Amino acid sequence: MEAALEAGLTRHIGVSNFSSRKLHDLLDHCRIRPEVNQVELHPLLQQVSLWTDCTAEGIHITAYSPLGSLDRPAVVKAPDAPVLLEHPVICAIAAERGCTPAQVLLAWHVQRGISTIPKSVTPARLRENLAAAAIELSPDERARIEALDQNIRLVDGSFWLMDGGPWTLQTLWDAP
Ligand SMILES: NC(=O)c1ccc[n+]([C@@H]2O[C@H](COP(=O)([O-])OP(=O)(O)OC[C@H]3O[C@@H](n4cnc5c(N)ncnc54)[C@H](OP(=O)(O)O)[C@@H]3O)[C@@H](O)[C@H]2O)c1
Repeated sequence: MEAALEAGLTRHIGVSNFSSRKLHDLLDHCRIRPEVNQVELHPLLQQVSLWTDCTAEGIHITAYSPLGSLDRPAVVKAPDAPVLLEHPVICAIAAERGCTPAQVLLAWHVQRGISTIPKSVTPARLRENLAAAAIELSPDERARIEALDQNIRLVDGSFWLMDGGPWTLQTLWDAP
């Protein structure tokens, strides 16, 4: 990616799914620092320590699967996985404000300075999601969302593992 940048093939380079450990290993060896780390991030997986670390290093965080990735493949969906868009706290805040649960989830990221990449193939939802940028949650609403952190990965990484491959779920995420 450094070579691609130097050749003018791209203007920005970044990484994805990097833990703090992998990021620091990279920073020790790279010539050009990544500008961004794209990771799963939503109220059930807030990644506070990684976010703090990236911010200290001047590396932007982008949140993927911000709406809970409902259409992820069935093979990677645990039967008891929570449905973020139906979470009672998120739905209650949406009902109180007269907006949608998706907008609450997206506004929360925008207000924290975290860019987010909701996916939709539905034009009305694309408009709805873009409009979330104008919603300002109150400190109390943000605190209610911040109390939901449970370290739950919805995209748990199992589909990146293969027989004989170098990774286990533990080494993939550098889980304790
Ligand atoms: N770097 C990585 O390893 C990684 C891993 C996973 C995902 N990603 C990327 O992250 C992006 C988003 O993640 P994701 O697709 O996993 O999940 P997501 O954006 O959290 O959820 C997408 C699902 O939410 C629905 N949706 C979108 N807007 C909605 C709204 N306003 N109300 C209700 N439902 C809504 C979509 O349905 P419709 O499309 O039918 O409207 C789709 O089923 C994608 O670009 C993906 O490629 C990156």
